[in-house]
Amino acid sequence: MKIDGKAYRTIWAGADGRSAEIIDQTLLPHQFKIVRMTTPEEAAHAIRAMQVRGAPLIGATAAYGMALAMLRDATDAGLEAASALLLATRPTAVNLRWALQHMEAVLRKLTPPERAGAAFAEAAAICDEDVEICRMIGVHGLELIKEIAARKDGGPVNILTHCNAGWLATVDWGTAISPIYHAHNAGIDVHVWVDETRPRNQGASLTAYELGEHGVAHHVIVDNAGGHLMQRGLVDLCIVGTDRTAANGDVANKIGTYLKALAAKDNGVPFYVALPSPTIDWSCMDGMTIPIEQRDAAEVTHIPGALEDGSTATVRLTPAGSPARNDAFDVTPARLVSGLITERGVCAASHEGLLSLFPEERQT
Ligand code: MRU
Repeated sequence: MKIDGKAYRTIWAGADGRSAEIIDQTLLPHQFKIVRMTTPEEAAHAIRAMQVRGAPLIGATAAYGMALAMLRDATDAGLEAASALLLATRPTAVNLRWALQHMEAVLRKLTPPERAGAAFAEAAAICDEDVEICRMIGVHGLELIKEIAARKDGGPVNILTHCNAGWLATVDWGTAISPIYHAHNAGIDVHVWVDETRPRNQGASLTAYELGEHGVAHHVIVDNAGGHLMQRGLVDLCIVGTDRTAANGDVANKIGTYLKALAAKDNGVPFYVALPSPTIDWSCMDGMTIPIEQRDAAEVTHIPGALEDGSTATVRLTPAGSPARNDAFDVTPARLVSGLITERGVCAASHEGLLSLFPEERQT
C-alpha cells in the first residue's frame, strides 16, 4: 500500500542480499523510519520490541531472521539456535511457529553452503504468498460489504475494527482491513470506526494512519465506545483479525476483541474475523488453551505521544505506586463469531466450517 503516494511492503530483502528492511512501527504515525536488520538477533529484537507486529508480519520477519542466521552459521546447530531465538519472541501469534517450521523443513533438506541463498528466496516466497492470501481475503470479504451496501441503498457502510489488522500487520493489504480497501477501491462508501486499542494504541496510531494514507473515511473512537455505537445503529459490521484461530473456530486477538464480540451479539451486528490459513492452529482444539502474552505493565501505566512542537514524549498516566496488569490478547469463543473470512472463502466459525475450506486437514 502507499505512504505519501509511494508503494511499500512492510518488509523486504536489502539490496545487498545480506539484510532485510522494515518500517519501524513503534515510531508511527509521528515518524517514518526504515530499519535495516543484518542478524537474527536484530530480527528477534524487532519482533519483541514491536517494530514489526501483527501475526503475518511476525511470521515473515522470523523467516528473514532465519535467512540472516544462515549467513553466519548454516549448520544444523545454527538453524536450531536461530529458530529457538526467534520462537521465544512472542507467544500468541502462531504464524511465528508456522514460518519457523516451514523454513526449517526447507533448509534441512539442503547442504549448509546452499542454505543462505535458499533461505532468502524462501522468506521472499513467504512474503509473496502472504500478499496474495491477504488480497484474496479482501476479495471474499468484499462480498459481505457489498451485501450490506446494497441494503443501505448507497448510504455509508459503517465498519468497526479493533487493533491493527491492516497492511502494516501483514506484508501488504492486511486481513480485516483488506475487504475495506477492496470496497473503497470498488467505489463503495465505507466508513471505519477505529478502536484506539489500549494499551499500545495500534488502532489510533497504525490503523488510522494507514486508512488516512489510503483515503478511507474513519473516526478513531475510545475502546469503550463500540457498544454504545452498536446500540445506536451506527455499526453495520465488525471485522477484526486474529493471532491464532483454534481448530474449533475460537479466535485469539488483541485484548478487548471479546468485549466487542459480546456487544455485537447483543445488538445483532455481524462479527467477522479475517485470517490467513497460517493463523489456524490445527493442533489446538480449544481457544482457551492458547497462550496469552503478558507484556510489560509500563505499557498500561505510561503512554507515548507527540507534543505540539513535533517532538515525542512518554508520560505516566497512573499513580506511581499503582501496579498494573497487561494481558495482550483475549479469546473470543466461536459462538460469538458470525464467520471466518479466509483466502479460500467465508466459513462458519467451527471445526466443520474450517474443514469445509481446508479438507486436506481432515484426519482420516
Ligand atoms: O500485539 P500486536 O500488535 O502484534 O497485535 C496484532 C493483532 O492483534 C492483530 O489483530 C492480529 O495480529 C491480526 S493481524 C493481521
